[in-house]
Amino acid sequence: MLAPILHKGKSKVKSIAVLTSGGDAPGMNAAIRAVVRTAISHEVAVYGVAKGYSGLLEGRIQRLSAGSVANIIQRGGTILKTDRCPAFYEKSARREAANLMRRQGIESLIVIGGDGSYKGAHYLETENDFPVIGIPGTIDNDIPGTEDTIGFDTSVNTAIEAIDRIRDTANSHDRVFIVEVMGRSSGHIALQVGIGGGAERIIVPELPETWKGVSKAVDRGIKRGKTSSIIVVAEGPKPGLAFRVAKQLEKGGHSGKVCILGHIQRGGTPTAHDRFLASVLATSAVHCLLAGKSNLAVGVLNGQVVRVPLAEIVRHRRPLPEGLMLMAADLAS
Ligand code: F6P
Repeated sequence: MLAPILHKGKSKVKSIAVLTSGGDAPGMNAAIRAVVRTAISHEVAVYGVAKGYSGLLEGRIQRLSAGSVANIIQRGGTILKTDRCPAFYEKSARREAANLMRRQGIESLIVIGGDGSYKGAHYLETENDFPVIGIPGTIDNDIPGTEDTIGFDTSVNTAIEAIDRIRDTANSHDRVFIVEVMGRSSGHIALQVGIGGGAERIIVPELPETWKGVSKAVDRGIKRGKTSSIIVVAEGPKPGLAFRVAKQLEKGGHSGKVCILGHIQRGGTPTAHDRFLASVLATSAVHCLLAGKSNLAVGVLNGQVVRVPLAEIVRHRRPLPEGLMLMAADLAS
């Protein structure tokens, strides 16, 4: 079982702020709860920033108590609310944020979010010498330095539940369904959902060749006696890609029904896995700061909690695990 990295000695840290940033992810509340409770149990004052970096720039900061995070571990979304904040790409905005926190007596910041949020955190520290730690919170699971992100498991389960339902109607009508899942620039959700949902074909942004031969994949199924098929496609840069797949199928003589799962994948009760992951990673994040370490993100590699420098993460994107696309094709053949 995954275990947190704990700091055993004394600590000079007196105050921590926490925010959620980017797209929300189920399990973010469990992470906020663990940050708050861990900090307080080590006599560190903890502050919640509302609405991500936008709220930080507006000074929307509140002291949090142990009681303020009661009864949230099971709730989807984020009680702190979140935002995408283009203004934070500006150096001057990051300087303003660091000064604002310092004026409020805040010495360090924990950012729960995805790769864009990590960039903001990394530059906030390097330019202003303001300690930050990242916790991976995104349904996309596309952050380097970790094999798992808070929210991924829940969103995959939500999508698979939807596919199981779609299969019922697909079977009854002998239809082809194209199910579009989230993932602007990454196919991790599509891959796991496609494998777990038994898709005939998985189309991901990382591998343009997955677009080829979609009709043939359906034909192969029909030859084996299948009367219905599921194709899973990652949404790519703009939702609605599934309609293009349907057009391509038409050219091959098939008609496909489109189902775009969209934001239902971001909401809902976090799975036990995501609650546990969030609790362990958030506890480890606070202990990083207690140990005087920063400009890092916590993550999971080879079944263990790790600390990875943000500098190593922000310039990359996590590739799809090798072999899984081939495996998916074999399992569908
Ligand atoms: O948070 C990640 C994500 O859900 C991606 O999978 C998706 O492409 C994007 O966010 C959607 O963003 P928004 O909710 O801002 O439209």
